[in-house]
Amino acid sequence: MNNWLSPEGIIDKKKTFFYPNTMHFYKQPPHIVKGEMQYLYDHNGKRYTDFFAGVTVLNCGHSNPEIIKAIELQLENLQHTSIIYLTQPMVELAEKLATKLPGDIQTTFFCNSGTEANEGALLLARMHTGKKGFVALEGGLHGRSHLTMSVTGIPMWRIDPFLEENVYFAPCYATSGEDTESASQKTIDAIEAILKVHGHEIAAFIVEPMQGNGGMMVPSDDFFKKLKPILEKHEVLLIADEVQTGFARTGRYFAVTHFDVVPDIITYAKALGNGVPIGAFSARPHVAASFNKPSASTLGGNPVSSTAGIAVLDYIDRHDLVSQTEVLGAILKAELIKLSEQFDCFKEVRGLGLMLGVEVAGERSPEIVDYILEEMKNRGFIIGKNGMNRNVLAFQPPLVITKADIQAMINELIVVLESLPIM
Ligand SMILES: Cc1ncc(COP(=O)(O)O)c(C=O)c1O
Repeated sequence: MNNWLSPEGIIDKKKTFFYPNTMHFYKQPPHIVKGEMQYLYDHNGKRYTDFFAGVTVLNCGHSNPEIIKAIELQLENLQHTSIIYLTQPMVELAEKLATKLPGDIQTTFFCNSGTEANEGALLLARMHTGKKGFVALEGGLHGRSHLTMSVTGIPMWRIDPFLEENVYFAPCYATSGEDTESASQKTIDAIEAILKVHGHEIAAFIVEPMQGNGGMMVPSDDFFKKLKPILEKHEVLLIADEVQTGFARTGRYFAVTHFDVVPDIITYAKALGNGVPIGAFSARPHVAASFNKPSASTLGGNPVSSTAGIAVLDYIDRHDLVSQTEVLGAILKAELIKLSEQFDCFKEVRGLGLMLGVEVAGERSPEIVDYILEEMKNRGFIIGKNGMNRNVLAFQPPLVITKADIQAMINELIVVLESLPIM
């Protein structure tokens, strides 16, 4: 018999021992005590089908037995030495990643989170170009450190009152309700205008190939192809932040390959560890060569995280999660589009693979999203939310979800939407 705290007991301790900045989803949050592939369980044994995957981390499912086995074996043998000693898992992971990364990218630096990966990529861009500034997009999210927060384009996540000044923002490549081609062209024009004036001081353009936190925004098919030569003309590097989109999430190993472009630097974290902390940035050879001054991360490339990463890549390949995600994503998207034709409050369905969002319409849309999240949780389904106005329902399940799970979730969503109080 476990002595679990009640949800209220956890909230009380958070209030006492955490800073007042932490928050949680739900008016009545469950205390989650167990995960099993696409399912979560609370302290009363109630089962939830997870459609948020711990914010896109558990692509291979919660406590995946094949991955856990590899991690356990590594834990029993060697947990840590640091990168200044020779261990095998870190180089094996880097070698395997090189077979998955776009184009000629093959050089990798391991760290522990998405923030750290982006911070490292921005540093590398400065070292390579000798320039200080950056261009980023409104709606982009890149991390919590000084530099990564400075290039984050979502006001609620820019809490440092003294952010970096050499950052220029362009509008997002997609806007709700507008056709994507014209929105993406506006972004290209805005970036070109910035570079005409400031190109000599800009090191890189950092961008999510598909915005997650910004509300599941997808650029036009030719956005990156049109933009890359403009960046090159001004000697500005392209950094693709794949912290959310990486590792089969969008139906490709990396989302940037949907757009037929090879970024100069690519960053990733979350799903590579499937719950074990890991982050990394990888670069094309001519850029990687500039990272030649000493740098080390104490836990970066540690044997346990590296072994988890290898097991994740093996699992994705063995179970063909890339193709499966494309198929299941198309099924889920079609169902969500059907609902948007039936229910007025579903304004727009967006996304790629199993990274899908539904923007909810109206002035009270953030409250409607919260209502739907709460009701779905009560019915055993965990859904996420994001968007500049926190009015986008986010569907990013573990990629091991089944067609039956999707149908069960849609059936409950219909019941919730039919019972929606007028807000
Ligand atoms: C696109 C993107 N970049 C960077 C980060 C920061 O990653 P982390 O929380 O691992 O530092 C996030 C986090 O959600 C993200 O979504």
